[in-house]
Amino acid sequence: MSNNILKGKKGIIFGALDQKSIAWKVAEHAHREGAEFILSNAPIALRMGTINQLAEKTNSEVIPADATSVEDLTSLFESSVQKLGGKIDFILHSIGMSVNVRKKRQYYDQNYDWTSKGIDVSAMSFHKMIQAAWKLDAINEWGSIIGLSYIAAQRVFNSYNDMADNKAFLESIARSFGYHYGVRRNVRINTISQSPTLTTAGSGVSGFDTFYNYANDLSPLGNASADDCAMYCISLFSDYTRKVTMQNLFHDGGFSFTGMSDKLMDSYSKENSDK
Ligand code: NAI
Repeated sequence: MSNNILKGKKGIIFGALDQKSIAWKVAEHAHREGAEFILSNAPIALRMGTINQLAEKTNSEVIPADATSVEDLTSLFESSVQKLGGKIDFILHSIGMSVNVRKKRQYYDQNYDWTSKGIDVSAMSFHKMIQAAWKLDAINEWGSIIGLSYIAAQRVFNSYNDMADNKAFLESIARSFGYHYGVRRNVRINTISQSPTLTTAGSGVSGFDTFYNYANDLSPLGNASADDCAMYCISLFSDYTRKVTMQNLFHDGGFSFTGMSDKLMDSYSKENSDK
């Protein structure tokens, strides 16, 4: 499916690690829809991942940047504007990491150095990225910036750990910076709150398969895949959504507004009748 709705638009896509990454799918769809963009990721991820295949496929260039480094981000924006031959129209922040989650430290037993690292990578990097672009005036009017979030920002998911706090911070940055960038330069900023998705970051959360299945059974439309998420991102980068800003947009097959589903009712009543 292609309608060329991003024809003439230039962007930066952060966070494509491998073919499962949400950012990878966004890059594929953005290319199909006629956009030109730069791919970026942390230098270490570039060494470990397969991003060059994506670059070749989408005719794009890869520029490394640690998203916690203002210096890296500033030079990335400068060279992107130069290489793309003009200002940026869209940015995807598809970055998340918690050392506490990785090292299986519980929420009630945090190592605060790791907590700080997670905040910096998963949330503060969003602010740093937007501020770097702001200072260079690197984004065109009616540009669109998206960060990816999860519903643990609003509700407790037992094993999501400090990532829940990071997502709450991320969503707050979209609102606050969305105001300033909107009122001064007509740029929109939103977060998408995505279903559990089978990616490297997703599967790092303990019990991921169980809450993936639970969400799938609760959501009237089932979980949204990485591909579905990419298509939603494309619509938000396009000119069809110019007045949507400062929102946290649930993209979860209806999960966020469902209390009980037929499927879950069935599975619980079976369990009860087996007892
Ligand atoms: P992924 O593991 O493919 O992507 C995470 C990316 O963050 C990787 O490319 C990694 O290299 C990058 N990254 C980590 N540290 C970085 C740094 N210092 N500088 C630059 N990049 C850095 O996983 P996925 O699932 O595609 O994650 C993308 C976003 O979607 C994350 O924000 C994640 O929290 C969010 N999300 C994921 C869900 C899931 O179930 N997979 C559900 C809801 C949101």
